[in-house]
Amino acid sequence: MSTARDWLARRDAVVCRGLPRVTDVVAATASGAMIVDVDGREYLDFVGGIGVMNVGHRDPEVVAAIKAQADRLLHTCIHIATYAPYVELCETLARVLPHGEHTKCLLLNSGAEAVENAIKIARQATGRGAVICFGEAFHGRTLLCATLTSKIDYKRGCGPFAPDIHRMPFPDVFRGGGDADAIARRELDRLRRAFRNTIAPEDVAAVIIELVQGEGGFNVVPEAYVRGLREICDEHGIVLIFDEVQSGFARTGNWGAYQHFGVIPDLSTWAKSMGGGLPISAVIGRAEVMDAARPGTVGGTYGGNPVSCAAAIATIRRMEELDLNARARVVGDTIRARLEALRPSTPAVVDVRGLGAMIGIELAEDGDVNRPATDATKRIVKACLDRGLLVITAGIYANIIRILSPLVITDEELDRGLSILEEEVLRHVGTGTQAPSGRHLQPAVGKVSSS
Ligand SMILES: Cc1ncc(COP(=O)(O)O)c(C=O)c1O
Repeated sequence: MSTARDWLARRDAVVCRGLPRVTDVVAATASGAMIVDVDGREYLDFVGGIGVMNVGHRDPEVVAAIKAQADRLLHTCIHIATYAPYVELCETLARVLPHGEHTKCLLLNSGAEAVENAIKIARQATGRGAVICFGEAFHGRTLLCATLTSKIDYKRGCGPFAPDIHRMPFPDVFRGGGDADAIARRELDRLRRAFRNTIAPEDVAAVIIELVQGEGGFNVVPEAYVRGLREICDEHGIVLIFDEVQSGFARTGNWGAYQHFGVIPDLSTWAKSMGGGLPISAVIGRAEVMDAARPGTVGGTYGGNPVSCAAAIATIRRMEELDLNARARVVGDTIRARLEALRPSTPAVVDVRGLGAMIGIELAEDGDVNRPATDATKRIVKACLDRGLLVITAGIYANIIRILSPLVITDEELDRGLSILEEEVLRHVGTGTQAPSGRHLQPAVGKVSSS
């Protein structure tokens, strides 16, 4: 039997090094909010495969739907022969994520592919080329998406990038001083001025924004900014695209983050938790915008594969049965309260932010927001991993710890994970007096019995 160490050596020998390897975990099985590695170590999962496992690992009904579909039909290519799961999934998406009176969908394989296609649809709908995106944005790693993505580490050496992409500062409430309405006014004004001195609005096809930035650090857009963006796009005939790849499917306490803001985009992009673990993504939009795409300009061999569609239909049904939107609010409130409680005694915790169960904490040296505690954050994440809690960072300085646990996590698991995280934050960046003296909680890492 190969150990984790063996597998990592084999990986290093044949897998290209550009593919990130954030931990040394070698997963064997998973269920609910737990992952078990090939050596039998258990990990409590606060990552969910980066926001993919909202419904939980190996939900029994999702697995059953996958098996049943595999027994019926694996592939025809939707261009060649129509099949029920594709149509049924689009009907379900239009029901839970309506975009006005008539909603249409396009299914693809990944978040990046959804973003690429949303931009192509917007360009066809407007006959324009330019796209406006934001600082700290993450939209994927294909070449157009890498252009839209902000952080240099994700794109260094990959250019030249796509032309006619214009980046505005993200309306960052935390860095902007905390007054959301004032920041919204200032940044909307900046956008209007950019239409005078950077790009003419009549050349702009689309504005694409994450309502809660994922990789960028769980920054939530001020509501007034979203409303203002809608007005500006309407005024100039610009397609407004919300990228909900990370924020979608119950993560924020709604099917989509946009449902918190009372603003409907023209197009939106979805992936990750939609498929319950299988690769599938969608562009959803107002029918008249979606239908601007000429036949043949969108699609692909595998997009909306029958098995992935069956998984997504079952995932959404399970999310409804389990009321994961409500559960996300409870999980989020718990996480927020626990992490906020660290702040009075731990100046290094400079912010706790997010929406629903998409919560992150930002760490800075001595509480100085201009000195990101990147190294300490790395040590905390590593210490958590050593104690059986899988958690990852976000942000351009990787000094934000983000929580994307499966929403089916039990109260006991959530409590256990948060206790480990709290202890390690205190141990590494606490002021000293309140840091626990090396005491471990219940050992979170244990051998799994072979039964
Ligand atoms: C907001 C957002 N958009 C797009 C993507 C790209 O998705 P994928 O990795 O499936 O291509 C991601 C991935 O993290 C994301 O968070």
